[in-house]
Amino acid sequence: MLPWFQNKFPLYLAPMAGVTDTVFRRLCKEQGADVVVTEFVSAEGIFRRNHRTQCYLDFDESERPLGVQLFGGDPAHLGEAARMVIDWKQPDFIDINFGCPVNKVVCKNGGSSLLRDCPLLESVARAVVQAAAPVPVTAKIRIGWSHDTINATTTARILENAGVQAIAVHGRTKEQGYSGEADWDVIADVVQSVQIPVIGNGDLTGAMDVKRRTESGVRGVMIGRGAMSSPWIFREIKTFFATGKIPPAPSLEEQWDFIIRHCRLAVEHPRRGRETPTMHAMRARLMAYSRGMPGARDLREKFSSVSSLTELEEIAAEHLKASSADSADLCRLLPA
Ligand SMILES: Cc1cc2nc3c(=O)[nH]c(=O)nc-3n(C[C@H](O)[C@H](O)[C@H](O)COP(=O)(O)O)c2cc1C
Repeated sequence: MLPWFQNKFPLYLAPMAGVTDTVFRRLCKEQGADVVVTEFVSAEGIFRRNHRTQCYLDFDESERPLGVQLFGGDPAHLGEAARMVIDWKQPDFIDINFGCPVNKVVCKNGGSSLLRDCPLLESVARAVVQAAAPVPVTAKIRIGWSHDTINATTTARILENAGVQAIAVHGRTKEQGYSGEADWDVIADVVQSVQIPVIGNGDLTGAMDVKRRTESGVRGVMIGRGAMSSPWIFREIKTFFATGKIPPAPSLEEQWDFIIRHCRLAVEHPRRGRETPTMHAMRARLMAYSRGMPGARDLREKFSSVSSLTELEEIAAEHLKASSADSADLCRLLPA
């Protein structure tokens, strides 16, 4: 049994390409995430060992337990890539991606394309489990390729028999991409069909969602987009499970402190390079943070041209000033 499931209900930060780099993973760990996974890396990328791959594999000891996620469609290559990653970086586990719906990945027989080729999925899993031993291997799947070919219970059993030690299930099909709703009934079916821990994933945006979804029998949950806009979601869930009470959301000041710190850590990260391109790359992240903030539309417009930390600090100061003026006006309007 993987140690993070022993008497625990781990909260995973979902792997998200372009989002869950070492800086963001560390911030989520501070907020209470228990287990993190790198963005996916192709086996071929590992062989090339270029700057980009090294960035994907970068992690800090404080992030443990951490898994490196690999994808590809060639069992021998994936096995070899797993071995190389383990030699270089000593992750706590290797995770295999059987869920990515992106055409560039699917065309090369990677990600979710293996959901419609169970023999190949099995070969990939067996090759990686064998090559990685004694380092454990986990997998992340979608519930199937399409609505008419939902096969998550079958793939989960194949993966369990191949020696995979936990399975994260994103409750959507490949064809759904990110649209529609995650189907937690299928996730519950997967829980019933295997002995190994199943981690539920899809559309969790707060502690009440997680509470409701524990009914499926999952042994942990994985949170993606919810953490992108509110990384404090992990703290909220932990507090709720410990006390039965949902803590107040961080104040606007606290949110801005967090956002500015995120950007500063990204700019200062040795692999990132200069401030301007880093801040350009952070724009999409800032857009996600603006969700739920007052005046989000104005903020998004400002974020679309932000190029430095100083500019971001100015946006924050202006936004805080405008928000406190708005709440003072509101107080005046309310009866005493
Ligand atoms: C921007 C983005 C990048 C993603 N990259 C990956 C990835 O590299 N590997 C993976 O297994 N899933 C990836 N996913 C899928 C997420 O891990 C997760 O399964 C999905 O977002 C559903 O969970 P959520 O509703 O909590 O966001 C990505 C999702 C998003 C939005």
